[in-house]
Amino acid sequence: MRQSLPSYIYSFMGLLSFCILCASSTNKCVVRREVADCSHLKLTQVPNDLPTNITVLNLTHNQLRRLPSANLTRYNRLTVLDGGFNSISKLEPELCQKLPLLQVLDLRHNELSQLSDKTFSFCTNLTELNLMSNPIQKIQNNPFKNQKNLIKLDLSHNGLSSTKLGTQVQLENLQELRLSNNKISALRREELDFLGNSSLKILELSSNQIKEFSPGCFHAIGKLFGLFLNNAQLSSSLIEKLCLELSDTNIQSLSLSNNQLYRTSNMTFSGLKQTNLSMLDLSHNSLNVIGNNSFVWLPHLEYFSLEYNNIEHLSSHSFYGLVNVRNLNLKRSFTKQSISLTSFPKIDDFSFQWLKCLEYLNMEDNNMAGIRPNMFTGLTNLKYLSLSNAFTSLRTLTNETFSSLAHSPLLTLNLTKNKILKIESGAFSWLGHLKVLDLGLNEIGQELTGQEWRGLENIFEIYLSYNKYVELTATSFASISSLQRLMLRRVTLKNVASSPSPFHPLRNLTILDLSNNNIANINDELLEGLERLEVLDLQHNNLARLWKHANPGGPVHFLKGLYHLHVLNLESNGFDEIPAEAFKDLPELQRLRLGLNNLNILPPSVFDHQVSLTSLSLQKNLITSVEKNVFWSAFKNLRDLDMSSNPFDCTCESIAWFVSWINKTHTNIPDLSSHYLCNTPRQYHGFPAMLFDISPCKDSAPFELLFMISTSMLSIFIFVILLIHFEGWRISFYWNVSVHRVLGFKEIDRQPEQFEFAAYIIHAHKDRDWVWEHFSPMEEKDRTLKFCLEERDFEAGVLELEAIVNSIKRSRKIIFVITQHLLRDPLCKRFKVHHAVQQAIEQNLDSIILIFLEEIPDHKLNHALCLRRGMFKSHCILNWPVQKERINAFHHKLQVALGSRNSVH
Ligand SMILES: *[C@@H]1O[C@H](CO)[C@@H](O)[C@H](O)[C@H]1NC(C)=O
Ligand SMILES: *[C@@H]1O[C@H](CO)[C@@H](O)[C@H](O)[C@H]1NC(C)=O
Ligand SMILES: *[C@@H]1O[C@H](CO)[C@@H](O)[C@H](O)[C@H]1NC(C)=O
Ligand SMILES: *[C@@H]1O[C@H](CO)[C@@H](O)[C@H](O)[C@H]1NC(C)=O
Ligand SMILES: *[C@@H]1O[C@H](CO)[C@@H](O)[C@H](O)[C@H]1NC(C)=O
Ligand SMILES: *[C@@H]1O[C@H](CO)[C@@H](O)[C@H](O)[C@H]1NC(C)=O
Ligand SMILES: *[C@@H]1O[C@H](CO)[C@@H](O)[C@H](O)[C@H]1NC(C)=O
Ligand SMILES: *[C@@H]1O[C@H](CO)[C@@H](O)[C@H](O)[C@H]1NC(C)=O
Repeated sequence: MRQSLPSYIYSFMGLLSFCILCASSTNKCVVRREVADCSHLKLTQVPNDLPTNITVLNLTHNQLRRLPSANLTRYNRLTVLDGGFNSISKLEPELCQKLPLLQVLDLRHNELSQLSDKTFSFCTNLTELNLMSNPIQKIQNNPFKNQKNLIKLDLSHNGLSSTKLGTQVQLENLQELRLSNNKISALRREELDFLGNSSLKILELSSNQIKEFSPGCFHAIGKLFGLFLNNAQLSSSLIEKLCLELSDTNIQSLSLSNNQLYRTSNMTFSGLKQTNLSMLDLSHNSLNVIGNNSFVWLPHLEYFSLEYNNIEHLSSHSFYGLVNVRNLNLKRSFTKQSISLTSFPKIDDFSFQWLKCLEYLNMEDNNMAGIRPNMFTGLTNLKYLSLSNAFTSLRTLTNETFSSLAHSPLLTLNLTKNKILKIESGAFSWLGHLKVLDLGLNEIGQELTGQEWRGLENIFEIYLSYNKYVELTATSFASISSLQRLMLRRVTLKNVASSPSPFHPLRNLTILDLSNNNIANINDELLEGLERLEVLDLQHNNLARLWKHANPGGPVHFLKGLYHLHVLNLESNGFDEIPAEAFKDLPELQRLRLGLNNLNILPPSVFDHQVSLTSLSLQKNLITSVEKNVFWSAFKNLRDLDMSSNPFDCTCESIAWFVSWINKTHTNIPDLSSHYLCNTPRQYHGFPAMLFDISPCKDSAPFELLFMISTSMLSIFIFVILLIHFEGWRISFYWNVSVHRVLGFKEIDRQPEQFEFAAYIIHAHKDRDWVWEHFSPMEEKDRTLKFCLEERDFEAGVLELEAIVNSIKRSRKIIFVITQHLLRDPLCKRFKVHHAVQQAIEQNLDSIILIFLEEIPDHKLNHALCLRRGMFKSHCILNWPVQKERINAFHHKLQVALGSRNSVH
C-alpha cells in the first residue's frame, strides 16, 4: 500500500487535469506557433476555442457544411483558411469581411455550385483561391471582379462548359488559371476577354474536350506565356490550328502531351514562327512520323520532349532548325520492336547535325539496332548522353563505334543495359573529355589490357559493375591514372593477385568497389600506394583465410597504408579472425562494416586507431562479449552502431561494460530491445541484453585492481590503504578465515550444553513482532531449544552493550533476520553485526545464519552490514517463503542450520 500510494495520487491528478481539459475543449486541433491544424477531426462546426492570434487555420477533411462568419470572427488575423474536403455548399459574403487579412482561401472538394457577385466581394486581399473539385457548372456575372490581387485561381474539376469567368475585364494580376477537367469544348475570344489585362504564366486547360479554337481567342488575353493542353485528344490539324492562334502571342511553354498528334509536317507548327517558344512537350502522342522541317519554326526552343512516342524514322531533316535546343528527351521515343523483328527505328546519319546547342540527350529505353558512323555528328556541345537500354545489337564497341562523337565535348556517357559483350582497343579514344563512363549491367567478358581505355585522358569514374567477367592485368588501368572512382562489383574479377597490382597506377583513386566477386586470393600489394582511397567495398568476397593466424606466411595486411580511408565494407567474407594490426593504418576511418561474418573474439586494441569512427556494424557475427579494452576507442565518437543478432554472453565480464555504455551513450542503436539478446548463461537466454542488471558487477572493479596491483611492487603500500579502507576488521575476517583454512583448525565445537542459548537473534527493532511470532512457537515445540531474544531475555529492556557481547558469547549460533529495517538500524549496523562477525571469526563461519525476509541485493547487504552471501555456506542462508505451503520446509531448513556443527570445511 505504501508503494502504490504515490502512483494512485498521480493517476488521480491525471484524471483531474483531463477533466479540466474536457470541460473546456471539444477539439483536438494541433496548434503550433500561429498555425492551427484541425484536419481529419470529423468536425461539424468551426472550433471556438483556438488562440485568437492564429494566422493559418486548416479545416480540411471534416464534415463542415458552412463556414459561418460569426464563428470565424474571433480569428480575424487569418491569412490562410483551408476548408478543403468538406461539404460546404454556400459561402457567406461576410466571411471575408470578418477576415480582412485573408490571402489564401482553399475550398477544394466541396459542394459549391453557385457563385454570385457577392460571394467573394469582400475578399480583396486574396492572392490564391482554390475552387477545384466543386460542382460549379456556370459562372454568371462577375464573382471575381474584386480579386485585384489574385495570383492563382483554380477552377479545375468542375462542370464548366466555358472559360468565361466574367463579363468585364478583371483579374489583372492573375498569373495562374487552372481550368483542367471541365467540359470546355471551345476557346472563344469573347469567353477569354475578361483576361484582357492579365499576363498568364500558366493557362491550364488539360483534360477538356476542346474541338475549336476560334479566331483571336488567345489574343483576347493580355499576355499568355504558358499553355497546357495535355490529355485533350487534339488531332494534328487541331494542333496546327492552335499554333496559328498562338502566333504573335508571348507563348513560351506549350505542353501537348497525350494528344493525337500522330504525324507532324512542315506546317504543323508554322503558326509558332513569330513566337519565342522555348519549351515544347509532345510526349505520349503515339507520334509516328516526323515530317522533314517540322520544327523549322522553333528556333528559340530550348527544352524539347518527345518521350514515349512511336517514331519510325529520323531523317537528316527531321530536326532541322532546332538550333537552340539544349535538352532533348528521346526516351522511349521510337517504335518498339513489335511482332516483326526487323522493325527497328531508322535513324539516319546526320539526324542531329542541326542541334548545335544540344547539351543533354536522353535516348534511354529504345530499340535501335546500333550506332551509325555519323549518327551523332554535329553535336558540338553535347555533354551528357544516355544510351542506357537503347540498342538491341550493340555487341562490340569498336574503335569506330563512337567516332561520330569525336567533336562533342562529352562528359558523361551512359551505356548500361545494352548487352555489350566486348570493348575493343581504342573504343573510347574519341572521348578525350569524358569524365563518367557507365558500362554497368552489360555482358562484358574479357581481359582488360588497358588499351580499352586509351584516350580517356580526363576520366574520373568508370562503372563496370554487373558484367560477365573481367580479368585484370598489370596494365589494365595503366593509361587512366586520372581515375578517381572505379566500380567492379559482381564482375567475377579474375587475377586480382597479380603483381604488380593492377590498381597500382591509380594514384588518385578515391572510391574502389570490388564487392561480390568471391575474391579469395589477394596479396598485400593490392592496394599499396592508394593513399587517397576513401571508400573501399570488399563485401561478399571470401577473404577469411587472409586474416587467419594460421595462414602460411602469417596474416595478409592488405589495408596497410590506406591513411585516408573513410569507408570500409568487409561484410560477408567469412572472417573469423582479425589480426590486431589490421586497421592500424586507418586513422580517418568513419564507417566500418564487418557484419555477416563469423567473428567472435576480437583482439584487444584492434580499434585503437579508429578514433574518427562514426558508424560501426558488426551485426550477425558470433560476438559474445563487448569489452572495454577492445571497443572503447571505436565507441568514443560513434553515431550509429549495429551489433544486432549476436549471441551475447550476459555475464559481468562479457557485457557489463557494454550495457553501462549503452545507458550513457547518445549513439543511435536500432532494434536495441529486440535484436540484442542474451544467448548464455542459460537462465538469461533470449533476454534483452540491455536489461541485464549490472549493479552486482560494479564491485568487481576494486578486486580486479587488488589482484593486479598486489602483484606489483606497490602491493604493500596499497595493502595499508586497503586496511584503512576496509576498517580493519574486514581484513582480519579474511585473515582469520584463511588461517583456519590453511592450518586446518579443528572445530571448536563445544557440546551443545556448554551454550546457554541455541542462537542469538539479531533483528531490527521494527521486526520484533515477526521474530516473536515465529521463534517462540519453535521453542514451545522443542523444549531443548532456547533462543536469546533481546526484548525477553534482557533485563527490563535495557540494551547494555556488555550484555549483548555476553549473550552472543553464550549462544551457539547467531541468526540475522535481514530486512530493509535491519540495514537501517544504527545499533545493529555498528555494533551487533560487528561483534557477531568477530565471534564468527573466532568460532567458525557457519555459526552465522542469515534469514532474508525480503529480497536484498548482495551489494546493499555488503554496503550496509559488510556481509556478503558468499561468505557463508548455502545451508546457512535461508529465505522466508512467500507461499504459506513452504513454511514447513523453511522450519526444517532452519533446524538443519541450527544443528550443523560450527566448522570450516
Ligand atoms: C498567441 O496567443 C497565445 C495565447 O492565446 C500566446 O501564448 C502566444 O504567445 C500568442 N502568440 C503571439 C505571436 O502573440
Ligand atoms: C491542411 O491539412 C491537409 C491534410 O493534413 C494538408 O494536405 C494541407 O496541405 C493543409 N493545408 C495547409 C494550408 O497547410
Ligand atoms: C457558431 O455560430 C452560431 C451562430 O452564431 C452559434 O450558434 C454557434 O454556437 C457557434 N458555434 C461555435 C462552435 O462557436
Ligand atoms: C489587406 O491587407 C492589408 C494588410 O496586409 C490591410 O491593411 C488591408 O486593410 C486589407 N484590405 C482590406 C480591404 O481589408
Ligand atoms: C512543306 O513541304 C511540302 C512538301 O512536302 C513543300 O511543297 C512545301 O514547300 C514545304 N513548305 C515549307 C514552308 O517548307
Ligand atoms: C581501328 O582498328 C583497326 C584494327 O583493328 C585499325 O586498322 C584501324 O586503323 C583503327 N582505326 C582507328 C581510327 O584507330
Ligand atoms: C545510367 O542510366 C541508368 C538508367 O537510367 C541509371 O540508373 C544510372 O544511374 C545512369 N548512370 C549514371 C552514371 O548516371
Ligand atoms: C591527381 O590529383 C592531383 C590533385 O588533385 C592532380 O594535381 C594530379 O594531376 C592528379 N593526377 C593525375 C594523374 O590525374
